[in-house]
Amino acid sequence: MDSIRIRGGQTLRGKIHISGAKNASLPLLAASLLTDEPLALSNVPHLVDIVTMASLLGQLGVDIKLNGMPAAGRTGRRMELKASNVSNITAPYDLVRKMRASILVLGPLVARTGEARVSLPGGCAIGSRPVDLHMGALRKLGAEMELDSGYIHARAPHGLRGAEIVFPTVTVTGTENAMMAATLAKGETTIVNAAREPEVVDLAQCLVKMGAEIDGIGSDRLRITGKDKLRGAIHSIVPDRIEAGTFAMAAAITEGELELIGAKLEHLNSAAIVLNEAGVTITETSEGLLVKCAGILRGADIMTEPFPGFPTDLQAQMMALMSIASGASMITETIFENRFMHVPELRRMGANITIHNSSALVRGVPILRGAEVMATDLRASVSLALAGLAAKGDTIINRVYHLDRGYERLEEKLAACGADMERIKAAA
Ligand code: UD1
Repeated sequence: MDSIRIRGGQTLRGKIHISGAKNASLPLLAASLLTDEPLALSNVPHLVDIVTMASLLGQLGVDIKLNGMPAAGRTGRRMELKASNVSNITAPYDLVRKMRASILVLGPLVARTGEARVSLPGGCAIGSRPVDLHMGALRKLGAEMELDSGYIHARAPHGLRGAEIVFPTVTVTGTENAMMAATLAKGETTIVNAAREPEVVDLAQCLVKMGAEIDGIGSDRLRITGKDKLRGAIHSIVPDRIEAGTFAMAAAITEGELELIGAKLEHLNSAAIVLNEAGVTITETSEGLLVKCAGILRGADIMTEPFPGFPTDLQAQMMALMSIASGASMITETIFENRFMHVPELRRMGANITIHNSSALVRGVPILRGAEVMATDLRASVSLALAGLAAKGDTIINRVYHLDRGYERLEEKLAACGADMERIKAAA
């Protein structure tokens, strides 16, 4: 497997184009199942998770055309998806276990065809991550739900019907599944305590272009009036706020200055507030956001929360940044129960971090030292890359597979801004 070598200590300066959001692209690709007309998506990032979702959709009978590979200096590609006929209703274990977001085909499949078989995802590095809320929402919409040999079997032979769905916990993909299913249900559906993440908003906006009727987009209460049919649409995917937040922290950890082209401040609100407290300035420009850390980096406390709170997907990166800040920071994870796997690796690089249940106390150290590290999930891996950018000496990040799931050409984008970073190809 490939690895990435980083020689730390370079100050990052320049412009980085922010790619389309992975977490918006995945439900948008799944939304193609809702119509027999073509759905044309642009700004789709070139990521392993997107390839996984595309191969799942291909197995279900969706015809996918790729036009426009990423051009030099720009990211994103166009994808046209056409589900004239859904020829298969099974999402098999070997794909779902690779990527939990495969569960996003459950709602669209049962809404369009009246039946779906989706493998239960099973465990995950960052926690148990059940899908009971997805199943409960579809049951509310009238689907019969059974568990059968490790598969969720959903059936609604006479179609779904609108209902009130109250989520006890905010769930991003659960809200997306319920919203997609409700667009083809008979009558009105209300989703209470809906996720408000920008990726949910992007999906809702595309569904509206496809002919869906959705009120309350961006709020925690969505009202969806079901339609008999949806049509095709053209949609450009929202920029990835997690990639933008990660690069903002890369600028800060190297005392550099990066302009993040396409990044939106309103999508980074609470992360931007915390970064400001820590001494990082973020200003809007005509093209995106300018991030710089001129003075001393100070410790700041964070607690992860659903949007608009601080995102759990930036927690690991923030911890890497705080590990060289002056003073202490308390980082509390409230979304996933096991999302501190980066801590032992950061400690190997010299960070001073102690975990107390769901909180990590980070005491800033003057210097990190390069080491050979690896992580078992995407955001943990990128936090080690940030630490490597600031560390003295070489850092080797193994299992680059995780980075490729969610970051498009990470080492190229950072190297173009001065990072001494390269991919080392595994021997064949
Ligand atoms: C999505 C994101 C992921 C992000 C997470 C939280 C995608 C593809 N992934 O994941 O990057 O870290 O939101 O912002 O968009 N839960 C249940 N039962 C369920 C569903 C969720 O108990 O049926 C719990 C989870 O275990 C977790 C919490 O609800 O504790 C929130 O998870 P959720 O928002 O569903 O995460 P995902 O949608 O899987």
